[in-house]
Amino acid sequence: ELHGSVTIIVLGASGDLAKKKTYPALFGLFRSGFLPEKTHIIGYARTKMAHEDYIARVTQYIKVPNDETKQLLEEFKQITSYQAGLYDDDASWQALDACVSSSEDQRKIGAGKRHRVFYMALPPSVFVPVAKGLKKNVYVQQGLNRLVVEKPFGKDTQSSNELGRDLSALFKENEIYRIDHYLGKEMVKNVMMVRFANIFFNQIWDRKYIDNVQITFKETIGTEGRGGYFDQFGVIRDVMQNHLLQVLSLIAMERPISTESEAIRDEKVKVLKCIPPIVLEDALLGQYVGANGKPGYLEDDTLTNKQSRTPTFAALTLWIQNERWEGVPFIMKAGKALNDAKVEVRIQFRNVAGSLYKGSPRNELVLRVQPREAVYVKFNNKQPGLSYQTIQSDLDLTYDNRYANLDIPDAYSSLLLDVLKGDHSNFVRNDELEAAWKIFTPLLHTIDNPDTKVPITTYPYGSRGPAECDQFIKRYGYDRSDEN
Ligand code: BG6
Repeated sequence: ELHGSVTIIVLGASGDLAKKKTYPALFGLFRSGFLPEKTHIIGYARTKMAHEDYIARVTQYIKVPNDETKQLLEEFKQITSYQAGLYDDDASWQALDACVSSSEDQRKIGAGKRHRVFYMALPPSVFVPVAKGLKKNVYVQQGLNRLVVEKPFGKDTQSSNELGRDLSALFKENEIYRIDHYLGKEMVKNVMMVRFANIFFNQIWDRKYIDNVQITFKETIGTEGRGGYFDQFGVIRDVMQNHLLQVLSLIAMERPISTESEAIRDEKVKVLKCIPPIVLEDALLGQYVGANGKPGYLEDDTLTNKQSRTPTFAALTLWIQNERWEGVPFIMKAGKALNDAKVEVRIQFRNVAGSLYKGSPRNELVLRVQPREAVYVKFNNKQPGLSYQTIQSDLDLTYDNRYANLDIPDAYSSLLLDVLKGDHSNFVRNDELEAAWKIFTPLLHTIDNPDTKVPITTYPYGSRGPAECDQFIKRYGYDRSDEN
């Protein structure tokens, strides 16, 4: 249920994340009637801006396909305003508090009914000072406060724990919503349903039947223009330690005792704790070089270290030491500047024992996260007609073929709605974050250490990735090279 009359305060309102994701997501909710009545949105950032400039900025990525949407956008503009201020100055925060309170008074929201959502669309360097300023000056004593934070949550176990400690000195765990936007994606939200609501998957979801699992993230764009940020993190911190690991934990966790958020998060933490740190032998790293008229990673103007060894591609194999999964490799692959943009989970089953139809390919269950959400099963069938050949075909549930009037919400809209409802299921809990970092930190430290000279291969911009990757996957038992 929604707690009415909310004030959403977007901190960092002049930044990229706010204009590309937060405001379009808020508008998405508004358009579908999911923002509570009497909602007010206040943008906050350091830049002084006239109201019109603010509106122009935060609405520039909102798509307006027709007149009706145009009209709604006009109405949406009425519920948002802007306030400039510093991130480390009590007077600025008090001015923000005055602005929020006066808006609450105007909307006749009494004490006890006040609900403030603080959305930090900010660089990590100001997370803690902002949280401090908010707690001291803008937090409502009677009512609800919710703090939404975005990665990066530190760079390793230690820095993440420090951030965690600082934030939890200010906000209670149940007031904090750590966003991993992959948890808001339709197909990721579907994983539990596919596993636990279908007997024929549920019963074969273990080492006896599953040979290997691959989680793949491919992007066609490189890091052009973002080199400064990216070089500090690399592809492993950027998408694997968070997005792909979240997907993995949903695939691998035990059945939660209920669908209640803490029950789900308990199981995710448990399975993460069964994964030992990734070892270098289970890693393949790559960096793209210029090709097809596109610049190499090191040629980007925003990159300062022209000798950088930061990976833009990685294949990593994780092992889960429990009864269900021992010996089953979970292979994650992620890369920038590849030939294709795709995110999918591919679960490959074992060969049929004593098969009458020797040589028939293995079954696979594929969950395609994007583009074009789909669930399909690679399935062996008799070639129709007079022959008795087997052919592998797909049992194919591609959403836009199957569901009429498909309108899949953006991940951020879905997550913001969860925040408004107070549902933590799709947010990362503090202990979960720590367990996630423990899996990656030793490997990251080895890679970051200039003395270790961890091998890093190259691949051309726009290619399938390092040529060595097919071999890498075969080592873990995947029995055909990925077709694309
Ligand atoms: C972000 C990463 O978290 O996720 C980006 O910082 C990446 O580098 C993005 O491009 C991918 O998200 P999506 O939703 O486009 O798949």
